[in-house]
Amino acid sequence: MRRALIAGNWKMNLDRAEAVALAAAIAERSGAAQEVDLAVFPPSVYLDAVRDAVRGSRLAYGAQNMCHQPNGAFTGEISAAMLVDLGCRYVILGHSERRHILGETNAEVNQKTIAALAAGLVPIVCVGELLAEREAGRTGEVIRQQFDGSLAGLSAEQTARLVIAYEPVWAIGTGKVATPQQAEAVHMDLRKILKDRYNATIADGVRILYGGSVKASNAAELLTQPNVDGALVGGASLKADEFLGIAAGVSRK
Ligand code: 13P
Repeated sequence: MRRALIAGNWKMNLDRAEAVALAAAIAERSGAAQEVDLAVFPPSVYLDAVRDAVRGSRLAYGAQNMCHQPNGAFTGEISAAMLVDLGCRYVILGHSERRHILGETNAEVNQKTIAALAAGLVPIVCVGELLAEREAGRTGEVIRQQFDGSLAGLSAEQTARLVIAYEPVWAIGTGKVATPQQAEAVHMDLRKILKDRYNATIADGVRILYGGSVKASNAAELLTQPNVDGALVGGASLKADEFLGIAAGVSRK
């Protein structure tokens, strides 16, 4: 039985006081969603403040990106060990904004995933097709390429420790949400890829989140799909009520 994870990707939003207030508001009410894992992903500069704000609660947190190298001359970068030092449990890797705006490649996501796992972090590895790719009937092929490239060389044991997020790029920040059937179809494909590469135990155990315009009002229908194990939420995660409302969608599963 996979435990649902509701993850809030705050992206490059909020100031320090707002980040602390939002983390505290979610943490304070996080006890109500016992059957769901909850995590927030503030900008890295606010991770220490968020750590203090959520202390003693069941709200976990993580970073939106990290460097694949352990240390050294990588100006502006942050290592996995630094995130662990800040108390992070998770790290989002290969988000579509990093892939498509900042040019991150599957090979880079792969190196980061391996480094994150080695440090004991849980990577949330994102995949997702562009609108033109979906319209050209290439969704399955694109997801497969991203999966194979981003998770290349991982053992079954390593893969069992990560989370996959399916985020169709055309649904991110657009208000356009994939239908539950569209989401479920890709999640099923991903689980089949996992089964073919490893085995049924790995395929059944890995959590696959959906991301792309998830909000409290549409969460339940997405989260009731058998292969949708949670959500990676952008805009709606910036409001405590919305974020917790999405988590409440899981209990209706
Ligand atoms: P929105 O929920 O704002 O569409 O963003 C989704 C996302 O990119 C989460 O990582």
